Amino acid sequence: MIILNSKGRQPLHDKIYNQIKNKILSGELPPATKLLSIKNLAIELSVSRNTVEYAYQQLFAEGYIHSKPRSGYYVSLIDPEFLPSSHCQTGTSPGQILEEGKSYSFDFHPASISPESFPVNLWRKLYVDSLKENPKQLASYSNQQGDTALRYELQRYLARSRGVSCSLEQIVLCSGLQDSLSILAPILKENHSQFAIEDPGHFIPKSVFRNHSFSISPVPLNSDGLAIDSLYNTKSTVVYVTPSHQFPLGYIMPVANRLKLIDWAKNVGGVIIEDDYDSELRYYGKPIPALQGLHPEENIVYIGTFSKVLSPVLRVSYMVLPYQLLTIYNKLFGHYSTSVSLLDQRTLSKFMEQGYWERHLRKMRTVYKKKHDAIIQSIHQHFGSQANIIGQGAGLHVVLELVGNSLTEGELIHRAQEIEVRLHPLSSTYLHKSSKNPQIMLGFGSMSSNEIDRGIELLYQAWYP
Ligand SMILES: Cc1ncc(COP(=O)(O)O)c(C=O)c1O
Repeated sequence: MIILNSKGRQPLHDKIYNQIKNKILSGELPPATKLLSIKNLAIELSVSRNTVEYAYQQLFAEGYIHSKPRSGYYVSLIDPEFLPSSHCQTGTSPGQILEEGKSYSFDFHPASISPESFPVNLWRKLYVDSLKENPKQLASYSNQQGDTALRYELQRYLARSRGVSCSLEQIVLCSGLQDSLSILAPILKENHSQFAIEDPGHFIPKSVFRNHSFSISPVPLNSDGLAIDSLYNTKSTVVYVTPSHQFPLGYIMPVANRLKLIDWAKNVGGVIIEDDYDSELRYYGKPIPALQGLHPEENIVYIGTFSKVLSPVLRVSYMVLPYQLLTIYNKLFGHYSTSVSLLDQRTLSKFMEQGYWERHLRKMRTVYKKKHDAIIQSIHQHFGSQANIIGQGAGLHVVLELVGNSLTEGELIHRAQEIEVRLHPLSSTYLHKSSKNPQIMLGFGSMSSNEIDRGIELLYQAWYP
């Protein structure tokens, strides 16, 4: 039974959504249970049909329920191992995660994704299908660049959704960003020695290229992304960029600057590494086509990943090498085999081939847009004019810039830890220290809208007592 009281400011559809979700997670509503029809539940609760429909659509989008044509909505089977931590039978107290001896009830880590959204049953089925389909493959190694069928699916998907233009032979399956960069660094070392990175930016490119004895040049950003004039002031001939959603500040590089960057590569005989890590998750406006598609014949390496929309646990990513680098790739890596498990590749290939990837993408966009909108609304509500939001509208995190607050980043994070809120320091993404107001990265991928709101409220109380 659902009880709708008038306490709190939570919208009615959220109350209905939460109560049904909790009943499913606690087992009170077991799998295959038929839910009341939208009309009947609306009558029972004295609310509009739209309110119930909205709640059901959210449960549907997050995979808690499914619909049967002309029959109604039913509770889906959810594997216990993928239930959120608050519903696991472990020694950890409800909703808490442990890290380095500390416990947290709210996790704003920018790389965390929605734990309950992985399509467990479907993945298991496709995995078993892959195991059975060709026993011989259990006794062999995968193609050096990855499963051909998967590369075919990727090629079509990248052309359709990202405007990337490439042939199958240019695609290399990798097990994450560090793997692809670890392949690229020795290839580039043949003709280059200086590597430019965005500052602030992701830490992996800097580590990998430093480990391969490149000298590193940090390049500042402006609101159009990488400051290309400053790039010219370095001696670098290789640059790593995140043009479609700069990590961590979320800037989008306009097309005029993309063309300027490509011109830079032509002028200095350089190479652009384009990391398109979360471009699928854009909530407003049209997706921005990849830089690679503007001039596919230029020296641009395109990198993408399944970590954001599917799961980082799979360790499946890919890169598209320009023809200029393929000969060196074959010379250096011709005898390597891909580091991604062939069974995972076959499973993913079926997932894409049978149309599940596009469906999952649409679902995850809905799930994350809701969380994104919740964090924006919550920040406005609790912080008002005491904070600016940087980099909203895409991805899985925003940056919060505090106004009129004299606490340091360390003090802010420490206060958050004391109220069991986990944050990730933005300063760790800078090579040169920033002199700006305190800025904090807020990932929203792993929390429900209610948890996001409560976490933001707690942060405000801790930072503006
Ligand atoms: C900028 C950036 N690139 C790439 C990735 C994905 O990395 P991987 O494919 O290794 O999981 C992330 C993950 O958070 C990221 O922030």
